[in-house]
Amino acid sequence: MITPLFHGPIAVIGAGTMGIGIAQVAAQSGHSVLLFDVNGEAVGQALENLRTRQHQRVEAGKAEASTTEAMLQRITQVNSLHALAPCGLVIEAIVEQLEAKQNLFQQLESICSNQTLFASNTSSLSITAIARVLSVPQRMAGLHFFNPAPLMKLVEIVQGLDTSLQTVATLKTLVTNWKKQPVVCRSTPGFIVNRIARPFYAEALRALEEQIATPATLDAILKESGGFAMGPLQLMDLIGHDVNYAVTESLFHAFHGDPRFQPSLQQKELVDADHLGRKRGRGFYVHDIKKKDTQPQPKIEPKQSKTQKQPVRIKATGNWTALPHFVALLQKPELQQYGIIFEENKNDRFHSPTLQIDDVLLALTKGRTCAQIADEVRAPVMQFDLSANHQTASIITLSAACQNTPQQTTKVIGFLQSLGKQVIHLPDYPALLTMRTVAMLCNEALDVINKSIASAEDIDLAMCHGVNYPIGPLAWGERLGWKHILSTLENLQKFYGEPRYRPAPLLRQLAAGHTQLPLPLAKSHKKGDIHAK
Ligand code: NAI
Repeated sequence: MITPLFHGPIAVIGAGTMGIGIAQVAAQSGHSVLLFDVNGEAVGQALENLRTRQHQRVEAGKAEASTTEAMLQRITQVNSLHALAPCGLVIEAIVEQLEAKQNLFQQLESICSNQTLFASNTSSLSITAIARVLSVPQRMAGLHFFNPAPLMKLVEIVQGLDTSLQTVATLKTLVTNWKKQPVVCRSTPGFIVNRIARPFYAEALRALEEQIATPATLDAILKESGGFAMGPLQLMDLIGHDVNYAVTESLFHAFHGDPRFQPSLQQKELVDADHLGRKRGRGFYVHDIKKKDTQPQPKIEPKQSKTQKQPVRIKATGNWTALPHFVALLQKPELQQYGIIFEENKNDRFHSPTLQIDDVLLALTKGRTCAQIADEVRAPVMQFDLSANHQTASIITLSAACQNTPQQTTKVIGFLQSLGKQVIHLPDYPALLTMRTVAMLCNEALDVINKSIASAEDIDLAMCHGVNYPIGPLAWGERLGWKHILSTLENLQKFYGEPRYRPAPLLRQLAAGHTQLPLPLAKSHKKGDIHAK
């Protein structure tokens, strides 16, 4: 017989967006659930909506009538906190206010048994601070679900300063039994996902502020080329700029004004104007179903005619091991005529995978502008952006040195189009967009490891399951090589003269080969909805 993790039903407090979802998850796994909300009508309404949604699923043949009915029967509305006395676990999903949560758990301590575990679904408050008011803070942890809780696989288990290892272990087993993916982290601002994801938004916002491209073009780069499930600006419109801005601002304050988390003034303008995104019909985009067909499109280079001159000679230099998909692309049968040889030149100062297309050097960006490199090598230079998969991506992003002749740049664009790619030609922007975003995601992830907040494995699992990244940032860094990430950030730091891009100490050690990350890391995950903040 399996020993139960705890005795008695599970209490869920707060029947809002998250509470009802968590109640459903627990009931689906066979637990009796007692649901309480200060607003009794809110519980009735939430249960009614759940019933309607589940019956629709049964009618659509997506769920079985008997299991659905049994699940709904397991959730009981209660009208007083005292009714929660027999519960073995209480999960709180009430309003996001420290005092309200502290008051609630203080009351529960006098109602429930000493063995009852307490969990908070807070997304921004300190678990340590909530547990401060308890006489047994060891039994309290964070259980951070993502929205919608029944669909999102990730649950962050947050360990406060006094949370016991036993509490963490029990919650981890419980979450696994619920067929969710648990990850463990210490109670720090943003936990894992909402902290590490900041640069995904911040770098796109900066590019927009610097007028590098339109929102549709920037989103297309990260989605179609970077491999992310949604573009960052589109995603912020979906999350709501009030919510997304508030999370960034709270991290900025929590980290004592660290420029890595500096909120964007352009996003603040949207908040001030009440252009909050999809829920207001306007954010970076206009969200009008009637105008669905007239959505702004990315700026793609016009397709060149077949009579356009093709390159005569192509040679590959630098280390291409980090770009296996690009190598596969270069091995297409139609390129056999060039007989491309991969020559790693040990004296190559750039060490970036580079194609010599006639007289033009086309290199993977590493944080310097094309013009800077062209000054140095006295040759025409172009750079391409990082991609999760250069072979399957429909778009490739390029920039060119101002020293190039238009013909030189055009020839390279035409060559990439002949490989079946749509080309986005950005201004000469250091580290383009996907590279700078991924480098900053890696940097943040390494800072989280360095400060013992979470393990490398849990970080990549969290980013793949919580926000559907195509590759965990750490697996991506490993694949690309830490030296490349370090050079990118050092070059960006030099270019802007800002501490925002300062490399994490662990990145320097990894790049020098003085330490290694434990393997294996989570590699990829199927695409789906993303609902982080
Ligand atoms: P919500 O506003 O939809 O629901 C909150 C519910 O709690 C309301 O029904 C309210 O009547 C009830 N409530 C307020 N004070 C109470 C009290 N003292 N005792 C009992 N019930 C009380 O809020 P939502 O979005 O469900 O968020 C709940 C918690 O989950 C917050 O801590 C939030 O930060 C967190 N969270 C929210 C996510 C989201 O996407 N909405 C995602 C992950 C976490």
